[in-house]
Amino acid sequence: MHIWPLSNNEKTDFFESSNVETIEQIKQEALKALASASDEENIKSLSVRYLGRKGAVTQFLRNISELPAEQRPEAGKKANEVKKYLESAFNEALKRLEAESGAARDRIDVSLPGRIAPQGILHPISQITRQICDIFTGLGFEIAEGPEVEADYYNFEMLNIPKNHPARDMQDTFYISEDIVLRTHTSPIQVRFMEKHRPPVRIVAPGKVYRCDSDLTHTPMFHQIEGLLVDENISFGDLKGILTTFVHRMFDDQTSLRFRPSFFPFTEPSAEVDILCVMCRGKGCRVCSQTGWLEVLGSGMVHPAVFENVAYDTSRYTGFAFGMGIERIAMLKYGIDDIRKFFENDFRFLSQF
Ligand code: DAH
Repeated sequence: MHIWPLSNNEKTDFFESSNVETIEQIKQEALKALASASDEENIKSLSVRYLGRKGAVTQFLRNISELPAEQRPEAGKKANEVKKYLESAFNEALKRLEAESGAARDRIDVSLPGRIAPQGILHPISQITRQICDIFTGLGFEIAEGPEVEADYYNFEMLNIPKNHPARDMQDTFYISEDIVLRTHTSPIQVRFMEKHRPPVRIVAPGKVYRCDSDLTHTPMFHQIEGLLVDENISFGDLKGILTTFVHRMFDDQTSLRFRPSFFPFTEPSAEVDILCVMCRGKGCRVCSQTGWLEVLGSGMVHPAVFENVAYDTSRYTGFAFGMGIERIAMLKYGIDDIRKFFENDFRFLSQF
């Protein structure tokens, strides 16, 4: 290449190198260095080395003014192209690096143990309620329901428990007003159902009931399930048969039953049912107070006065009824000795079911 004018050796060297080939060389060198740059710091220092204030490309551009006039345009153009090219090459490299480390961060390690989302279960009382209902629906019973805030009329009067009757003392009632109570048992559902349906009637009615009572075996709210069967020719034998089948299915065939005479205003005769202690099998233990038996429900033949209240023909129909505490059944089934555990919502307790 012909360089003019030649002023000194240094300049000659510089002018000799300040041509299009030189800038192309710088570019190739930069790209080669970039190709082996492995991290962000590397790339940034390369960028400084070539494009920084004292970088090779910058120097080259600065010295263009010293080139012969006819060479300046081409050298300038080329140098600016290289500058832009390298700028974008460095930027790309930085971006690629960032994307790669992001991908590494987002990569799924299939060998890690799974994160198990905590899942709820049915409350043990709901589970037992469903089991009981399943057994009775299997025997041809339907499910019925009634209100928890109940009229005194249904909770007591229609069940043959008039005002001032001593039997009211059997249940410590929460009164909402003089005539409205929180139902103390599920028995009012019997009356409500019979008012609306003619025999034959076969129902079980689960639900919450309320009594002003609280200790190891009593909570102010608990659950009962009521049973009622009315038809022609229903006898105490049918009551015994149904309840025996129920107990055998709920516990096991070895769990025998004992019917003890009792009193309820809405049944006559009445009986309380004990089952052989599920803990000691009759030998006598703490749970059964050394008796070998556990009381599980009240029952009896529906009192004619109740049938009269719902205008059922007492000369044609007879029936039996029973009521049991669901918590009591659950406690016996699972060996729980404190009823309050069901309502404390301690996840460690609940998650065992
Ligand atoms: N309602 C009674 C109670 O809560 C239980 C009961 C006893 C229900 C005898 C009945 C029955 O249907 O026939 O103590």
